[in-house]
Amino acid sequence: MSTNPPFQLTRTLPEDATDAALRSDVLHGLTRSPKTLPPKWFYDARGSELFDEITTLEEYYPTRAEREILVARAPEIAAATGARTLVELGSGSSDKTRHLLESFADLAAYVPVDVSESALRGAARTLRAEHPGLAVHALVADFTRGLDLPATPGPRLVAFLGGTIGNLLPDERAAFLKAVRELLSPGDFLLLGTDLVKDESTLIAAYDDAAGVTAAFNKNVLSVVNRELGADFDPGAFEHVALWDPREEWIEMRLRSTVPQTVKIPALDLAVDFEAGEELRTEVSAKFRQERVREELGAAGLELTRWWTDEAGRFALSLSTPATA
Ligand code: SAH
Ligand code: TRP
Repeated sequence: MSTNPPFQLTRTLPEDATDAALRSDVLHGLTRSPKTLPPKWFYDARGSELFDEITTLEEYYPTRAEREILVARAPEIAAATGARTLVELGSGSSDKTRHLLESFADLAAYVPVDVSESALRGAARTLRAEHPGLAVHALVADFTRGLDLPATPGPRLVAFLGGTIGNLLPDERAAFLKAVRELLSPGDFLLLGTDLVKDESTLIAAYDDAAGVTAAFNKNVLSVVNRELGADFDPGAFEHVALWDPREEWIEMRLRSTVPQTVKIPALDLAVDFEAGEELRTEVSAKFRQERVREELGAAGLELTRWWTDEAGRFALSLSTPATA
Protein backbone atom coordinates (compact mmCIF):
# COMPACT_ATOMS: atom_id res chain seq x y z
CA MET A 1 0.00 0.00 0.00
CA SER A 2 1.34 3.42 -0.89
CA THR A 3 1.33 6.15 1.68
CA ASN A 4 -0.04 9.56 0.84
CA PRO A 5 2.46 12.38 0.64
CA PRO A 6 2.02 14.77 3.51
CA PHE A 7 -0.33 17.73 3.70
CA GLN A 8 1.10 20.09 6.25
CA LEU A 9 -0.14 23.45 7.37
CA THR A 10 2.20 25.76 9.26
CA ARG A 11 0.97 28.93 10.91
CA THR A 12 3.52 31.69 11.20
CA LEU A 13 0.71 34.07 12.07
CA PRO A 14 -0.40 33.27 15.59
CA GLU A 15 -3.83 34.71 16.45
CA ASP A 16 -2.38 37.28 18.83
CA ALA A 17 0.19 38.50 16.29
CA THR A 18 -2.60 39.02 13.76
CA ASP A 19 -4.53 40.84 16.40
CA ALA A 20 -1.62 43.12 17.28
CA ALA A 21 -0.91 43.87 13.62
CA LEU A 22 -4.56 44.63 12.92
CA ARG A 23 -4.76 46.96 15.92
CA SER A 24 -1.63 48.79 14.92
CA ASP A 25 -2.70 49.10 11.26
CA VAL A 26 -6.18 50.33 12.15
CA LEU A 27 -4.89 52.76 14.75
CA HIS A 28 -2.29 54.27 12.42
CA GLY A 29 -4.53 54.20 9.35
CA LEU A 30 -7.57 55.85 10.91
CA THR A 31 -5.73 58.57 12.83
CA ARG A 32 -3.83 59.91 9.80
CA SER A 33 -5.11 62.16 7.05
CA PRO A 34 -6.27 60.98 4.58
CA LYS A 35 -7.46 57.85 6.38
CA THR A 36 -6.34 54.43 5.11
CA LEU A 37 -6.76 50.73 5.89
CA PRO A 38 -4.25 48.20 4.52
CA PRO A 39 -5.54 45.57 2.06
CA LYS A 40 -4.47 42.32 3.70
CA TRP A 41 -7.39 42.66 6.13
CA PHE A 42 -9.85 42.17 3.28
CA TYR A 43 -9.26 38.46 3.28
CA ASP A 44 -11.15 36.86 6.14
CA ALA A 45 -13.25 33.82 5.11
CA ARG A 46 -16.02 36.05 3.72
CA GLY A 47 -13.52 38.31 1.94
CA SER A 48 -11.82 35.33 0.29
CA GLU A 49 -15.24 34.11 -0.92
CA LEU A 50 -16.12 37.54 -2.28
CA PHE A 51 -12.78 37.75 -4.08
CA ASP A 52 -13.43 34.38 -5.73
CA GLU A 53 -16.77 35.77 -6.88
CA ILE A 54 -15.00 38.85 -8.32
CA THR A 55 -12.81 36.56 -10.43
CA THR A 56 -15.93 35.19 -12.17
CA LEU A 57 -17.38 38.62 -13.07
CA GLU A 58 -17.67 39.63 -16.72
CA GLU A 59 -15.96 42.98 -15.97
CA TYR A 60 -13.03 41.47 -14.04
CA TYR A 61 -10.74 40.51 -16.93
CA PRO A 62 -7.41 39.93 -15.04
CA THR A 63 -8.20 36.37 -13.94
CA ARG A 64 -9.29 35.25 -17.40
CA ALA A 65 -6.35 37.01 -19.09
CA GLU A 66 -3.81 35.47 -16.71
CA ARG A 67 -5.40 32.05 -17.07
CA GLU A 68 -5.10 32.34 -20.86
CA ILE A 69 -1.35 32.98 -20.51
CA LEU A 70 -0.88 30.13 -18.04
CA VAL A 71 -2.71 27.67 -20.28
CA ALA A 72 -0.62 28.71 -23.29
CA ARG A 73 2.74 28.96 -21.53
CA ALA A 74 2.81 26.44 -18.68
CA PRO A 75 4.87 23.91 -20.69
CA GLU A 76 7.43 26.64 -21.53
CA ILE A 77 7.52 27.77 -17.91
CA ALA A 78 8.13 24.18 -16.78
CA ALA A 79 10.88 23.70 -19.37
CA ALA A 80 12.57 27.04 -18.64
CA THR A 81 12.63 26.57 -14.87
CA GLY A 82 12.85 22.82 -14.32
CA ALA A 83 11.25 23.58 -10.98
CA ARG A 84 10.91 20.85 -8.34
CA THR A 85 9.28 23.13 -5.77
CA LEU A 86 6.52 25.59 -6.59
CA VAL A 87 6.03 28.27 -3.94
CA GLU A 88 2.97 30.46 -4.48
CA LEU A 89 2.52 33.75 -2.61
CA GLY A 90 -1.06 34.93 -2.00
CA SER A 91 -2.28 31.65 -3.47
CA GLY A 92 -5.95 32.09 -2.47
CA SER A 93 -8.02 29.31 -4.04
CA SER A 94 -4.97 28.08 -6.09
CA ASP A 95 -7.42 27.79 -8.96
CA LYS A 96 -5.16 29.01 -11.79
CA THR A 97 -2.22 27.09 -10.32
CA ARG A 98 -3.62 23.85 -11.72
CA HIS A 99 -2.38 24.87 -15.18
CA LEU A 100 1.18 25.00 -13.82
CA LEU A 101 0.86 21.81 -11.76
CA GLU A 102 -0.32 19.88 -14.82
CA SER A 103 2.83 20.83 -16.75
CA PHE A 104 5.45 20.28 -14.04
CA ALA A 105 6.36 16.61 -14.41
CA ASP A 106 9.12 16.68 -11.76
CA LEU A 107 7.37 18.65 -9.06
CA ALA A 108 8.21 17.40 -5.55
CA ALA A 109 6.34 19.98 -3.49
CA TYR A 110 3.80 22.79 -3.69
CA VAL A 111 4.02 25.48 -1.00
CA PRO A 112 0.97 27.80 -1.04
CA VAL A 113 1.38 30.88 1.19
CA ASP A 114 -1.58 33.02 2.24
CA VAL A 115 -2.87 35.06 5.19
CA SER A 116 -6.22 33.33 4.76
CA GLU A 117 -6.22 29.92 6.45
CA SER A 118 -9.72 29.19 5.14
CA ALA A 119 -8.56 29.80 1.56
CA LEU A 120 -5.53 27.51 2.08
CA ARG A 121 -7.67 24.72 3.53
CA GLY A 122 -10.19 24.99 0.69
CA ALA A 123 -7.41 24.92 -1.92
CA ALA A 124 -5.76 21.91 -0.25
CA ARG A 125 -8.99 19.90 -0.48
CA THR A 126 -9.23 20.43 -4.23
CA LEU A 127 -5.50 19.78 -4.75
CA ARG A 128 -5.60 16.47 -2.91
CA ALA A 129 -8.38 15.30 -5.18
CA GLU A 130 -6.68 16.46 -8.39
CA HIS A 131 -3.03 15.73 -7.51
CA PRO A 132 -3.09 12.91 -4.95
CA GLY A 133 0.66 12.37 -5.37
CA LEU A 134 1.73 15.94 -4.63
CA ALA A 135 3.22 16.97 -1.28
CA VAL A 136 1.51 20.19 -0.19
CA HIS A 137 3.02 22.31 2.55
CA ALA A 138 0.68 25.25 3.19
CA LEU A 139 1.97 28.29 5.06
CA VAL A 140 -0.34 30.72 6.83
CA ALA A 141 1.92 33.75 6.64
CA ASP A 142 2.18 37.41 5.72
CA PHE A 143 4.37 37.56 2.62
CA THR A 144 5.45 41.12 3.45
CA ARG A 145 6.99 40.02 6.74
CA GLY A 146 9.82 37.70 5.71
CA LEU A 147 9.17 34.08 4.88
CA ASP A 148 10.64 30.94 6.31
CA LEU A 149 10.17 28.39 3.55
CA PRO A 150 10.23 24.64 4.22
CA ALA A 151 13.31 22.71 3.04
CA THR A 152 12.09 21.18 -0.23
CA PRO A 153 14.05 20.17 -3.36
CA GLY A 154 15.23 22.86 -5.83
CA PRO A 155 15.09 24.44 -8.27
CA ARG A 156 12.42 26.64 -6.79
CA LEU A 157 9.84 28.63 -8.71
CA VAL A 158 8.17 31.38 -6.67
CA ALA A 159 4.86 32.36 -8.31
CA PHE A 160 3.06 35.57 -7.41
CA LEU A 161 -0.07 35.74 -9.55
CA GLY A 162 -3.28 37.73 -9.79
CA GLY A 163 -1.59 41.11 -10.07
CA THR A 164 -1.45 41.15 -6.27
CA ILE A 165 1.96 42.86 -6.44
CA GLY A 166 0.01 45.92 -7.62
CA ASN A 167 -1.72 46.06 -4.25
CA LEU A 168 1.59 46.99 -2.60
CA LEU A 169 2.69 50.65 -2.57
CA PRO A 170 5.93 51.40 -4.49
CA ASP A 171 8.21 51.33 -1.43
CA GLU A 172 6.52 48.18 -0.11
CA ARG A 173 6.92 46.63 -3.54
CA ALA A 174 10.64 47.40 -3.62
CA ALA A 175 11.15 45.86 -0.16
CA PHE A 176 9.01 42.87 -1.09
CA LEU A 177 10.96 42.15 -4.31
CA LYS A 178 14.26 42.36 -2.43
CA ALA A 179 12.93 39.85 0.11
CA VAL A 180 11.83 37.52 -2.71
CA ARG A 181 15.29 37.84 -4.28
CA GLU A 182 16.75 36.66 -0.94
CA LEU A 183 14.59 33.53 -1.10
CA LEU A 184 16.05 32.58 -4.48
CA SER A 185 19.29 30.75 -5.22
CA PRO A 186 20.96 30.79 -8.62
CA GLY A 187 18.78 28.69 -10.93
CA ASP A 188 15.57 29.60 -9.08
CA PHE A 189 12.88 31.78 -10.70
CA LEU A 190 10.12 34.28 -9.94
CA LEU A 191 6.93 34.04 -12.01
CA LEU A 192 5.13 37.37 -11.61
CA GLY A 193 1.64 38.32 -12.79
CA THR A 194 1.16 42.03 -13.51
CA ASP A 195 -1.92 43.75 -14.83
CA LEU A 196 -1.10 46.24 -17.61
CA VAL A 197 -1.98 49.91 -18.18
CA LYS A 198 -5.02 50.15 -20.47
CA ASP A 199 -8.01 52.37 -21.16
CA GLU A 200 -9.64 53.87 -18.12
CA SER A 201 -13.17 52.56 -18.73
CA THR A 202 -12.03 48.92 -18.82
CA LEU A 203 -10.05 49.44 -15.62
CA ILE A 204 -12.84 51.20 -13.74
CA ALA A 205 -15.42 48.57 -14.71
CA ALA A 206 -13.13 45.82 -13.36
CA TYR A 207 -13.08 47.54 -9.95
CA ASP A 208 -16.68 48.78 -9.88
CA ASP A 209 -18.81 45.98 -11.31
CA ALA A 210 -22.50 46.36 -12.05
CA ALA A 211 -23.56 43.62 -9.61
CA GLY A 212 -21.79 45.35 -6.72
CA VAL A 213 -19.59 42.41 -5.72
CA THR A 214 -16.46 44.58 -5.57
CA ALA A 215 -18.37 47.12 -3.47
CA ALA A 216 -19.33 44.34 -1.04
CA PHE A 217 -15.71 43.12 -0.99
CA ASN A 218 -14.42 46.61 -0.25
CA LYS A 219 -16.96 47.16 2.55
CA ASN A 220 -16.16 43.75 4.05
CA VAL A 221 -13.02 45.25 5.55
CA LEU A 222 -15.31 47.31 7.82
CA SER A 223 -17.00 44.12 9.03
CA VAL A 224 -13.56 42.66 9.80
CA VAL A 225 -12.75 45.68 11.99
CA ASN A 226 -16.20 45.43 13.62
CA ARG A 227 -15.77 41.76 14.45
CA GLU A 228 -12.12 41.82 15.49
CA LEU A 229 -11.99 45.15 17.33
CA GLY A 230 -15.62 45.59 18.39
CA ALA A 231 -16.06 48.65 16.16
CA ASP A 232 -19.48 49.93 15.09
CA PHE A 233 -18.90 50.74 11.42
CA ASP A 234 -22.20 50.81 9.51
CA PRO A 235 -21.18 49.49 6.06
CA GLY A 236 -24.43 50.98 4.71
CA ALA A 237 -23.17 54.47 5.55
CA PHE A 238 -20.20 54.13 3.17
CA GLU A 239 -20.10 53.86 -0.59
CA HIS A 240 -17.57 52.12 -2.80
CA VAL A 241 -15.40 54.36 -4.98
CA ALA A 242 -12.91 53.24 -7.66
CA LEU A 243 -10.72 55.92 -9.30
CA TRP A 244 -7.97 55.76 -11.91
CA ASP A 245 -4.92 57.84 -10.99
CA PRO A 246 -3.13 58.45 -14.32
CA ARG A 247 0.00 59.84 -12.67
CA GLU A 248 0.60 56.86 -10.39
CA GLU A 249 -0.97 54.50 -12.92
CA TRP A 250 -3.02 52.79 -10.28
CA ILE A 251 -6.66 52.17 -9.45
CA GLU A 252 -7.47 53.49 -6.03
CA MET A 253 -10.30 51.96 -4.03
CA ARG A 254 -11.93 54.06 -1.38
CA LEU A 255 -14.91 53.99 0.97
CA ARG A 256 -16.76 57.31 1.10
CA SER A 257 -18.73 58.23 4.19
CA THR A 258 -22.18 59.28 2.97
CA VAL A 259 -23.02 61.12 6.23
CA PRO A 260 -21.12 62.85 9.03
CA GLN A 261 -20.52 60.10 11.58
CA THR A 262 -18.40 58.96 14.49
CA VAL A 263 -17.24 55.35 14.58
CA LYS A 264 -16.24 53.84 17.92
CA ILE A 265 -13.47 51.27 18.12
CA PRO A 266 -13.50 50.06 21.74
CA ALA A 267 -10.48 47.75 21.43
CA LEU A 268 -8.38 50.80 20.54
CA ASP A 269 -10.20 53.16 22.86
CA LEU A 270 -10.75 55.28 19.79
CA ALA A 271 -13.54 57.33 18.25
CA VAL A 272 -13.04 58.30 14.61
CA ASP A 273 -14.93 61.18 13.00
CA PHE A 274 -15.88 61.13 9.34
CA GLU A 275 -17.20 64.17 7.53
CA ALA A 276 -19.92 63.65 4.92
CA GLY A 277 -18.09 62.77 1.70
CA GLU A 278 -14.82 61.95 3.49
CA GLU A 279 -12.96 59.08 1.87
CA LEU A 280 -10.96 56.26 3.39
CA ARG A 281 -8.38 54.66 1.05
CA THR A 282 -8.54 50.89 1.24
CA GLU A 283 -6.49 49.61 -1.67
CA VAL A 284 -4.47 50.52 -4.70
CA SER A 285 -4.09 48.22 -7.69
CA ALA A 286 -1.13 49.38 -9.76
CA LYS A 287 -1.04 48.70 -13.48
CA PHE A 288 2.28 48.16 -15.20
CA ARG A 289 4.25 48.56 -18.41
CA GLN A 290 7.06 46.19 -19.29
CA GLU A 291 9.78 48.82 -18.68
CA ARG A 292 8.60 49.40 -15.15
CA VAL A 293 8.44 45.69 -14.34
CA ARG A 294 11.96 45.22 -15.72
CA GLU A 295 13.26 48.20 -13.73
CA GLU A 296 11.68 47.22 -10.45
CA LEU A 297 12.90 43.63 -10.78
CA GLY A 298 16.35 44.93 -11.70
CA ALA A 299 16.47 47.18 -8.64
CA ALA A 300 15.87 44.07 -6.51
CA GLY A 301 18.66 42.10 -8.20
CA LEU A 302 16.38 40.13 -10.52
CA GLU A 303 16.79 39.89 -14.27
CA LEU A 304 13.68 39.66 -16.43
CA THR A 305 14.19 36.74 -18.81
CA ARG A 306 10.72 36.08 -20.31
CA TRP A 307 7.59 38.20 -20.86
CA TRP A 308 4.27 36.84 -22.03
CA THR A 309 0.90 38.58 -22.46
CA ASP A 310 -2.58 37.36 -23.36
CA GLU A 311 -3.67 37.86 -27.00
CA ALA A 312 -5.44 41.13 -26.15
CA GLY A 313 -2.38 42.49 -24.29
CA ARG A 314 -4.24 43.12 -21.04
CA PHE A 315 -2.08 41.21 -18.57
CA ALA A 316 1.52 39.97 -18.41
CA LEU A 317 3.39 37.10 -16.84
CA SER A 318 7.13 37.51 -16.49
CA LEU A 319 9.89 35.19 -15.50
CA SER A 320 12.97 36.50 -13.73
CA THR A 321 15.99 35.01 -12.05
CA PRO A 322 18.77 36.26 -9.73
CA ALA A 323 20.96 38.58 -11.78
CA THR A 324 24.55 37.52 -12.23
CA ALA A 325 26.80 40.18 -10.72
N1 SAH B 1 -3.53 34.27 -6.44
C1 SAH B 1 -4.99 34.27 -6.45
C2 SAH B 1 -5.59 35.16 -5.34
C3 SAH B 1 -5.33 36.65 -5.50
S1 SAH B 1 -6.18 37.62 -4.25
C4 SAH B 1 -5.48 34.72 -7.81
O1 SAH B 1 -4.65 35.10 -8.62
O2 SAH B 1 -6.68 34.70 -8.06
C5 SAH B 1 -4.85 37.99 -3.17
C6 SAH B 1 -4.53 36.85 -2.22
O3 SAH B 1 -3.38 37.25 -1.46
C7 SAH B 1 -5.64 36.54 -1.23
O4 SAH B 1 -5.83 35.15 -1.15
C8 SAH B 1 -5.11 37.13 0.10
O5 SAH B 1 -5.57 36.40 1.22
C9 SAH B 1 -3.61 37.03 -0.08
N2 SAH B 1 -2.86 38.07 0.63
C10 SAH B 1 -3.08 39.41 0.60
N3 SAH B 1 -2.14 40.05 1.34
C11 SAH B 1 -1.33 39.08 1.84
C12 SAH B 1 -0.16 39.11 2.67
N4 SAH B 1 0.34 40.26 3.13
N5 SAH B 1 0.44 37.93 2.99
C13 SAH B 1 -0.07 36.74 2.51
N6 SAH B 1 -1.15 36.66 1.72
C14 SAH B 1 -1.79 37.82 1.39
N1 TRP C 1 -5.25 41.65 -6.63
C1 TRP C 1 -6.57 42.08 -6.99
C2 TRP C 1 -6.48 43.24 -7.96
O1 TRP C 1 -5.82 44.20 -7.67
C3 TRP C 1 -7.35 42.42 -5.76
C4 TRP C 1 -8.68 43.08 -6.00
C5 TRP C 1 -9.57 42.91 -7.02
C6 TRP C 1 -9.30 44.02 -5.14
N2 TRP C 1 -10.67 43.69 -6.83
C7 TRP C 1 -10.53 44.36 -5.70
C8 TRP C 1 -8.92 44.58 -3.95
C9 TRP C 1 -11.38 45.29 -5.08
C10 TRP C 1 -9.77 45.50 -3.33
C11 TRP C 1 -10.98 45.84 -3.88
O2 TRP C 1 -7.03 43.20 -9.03
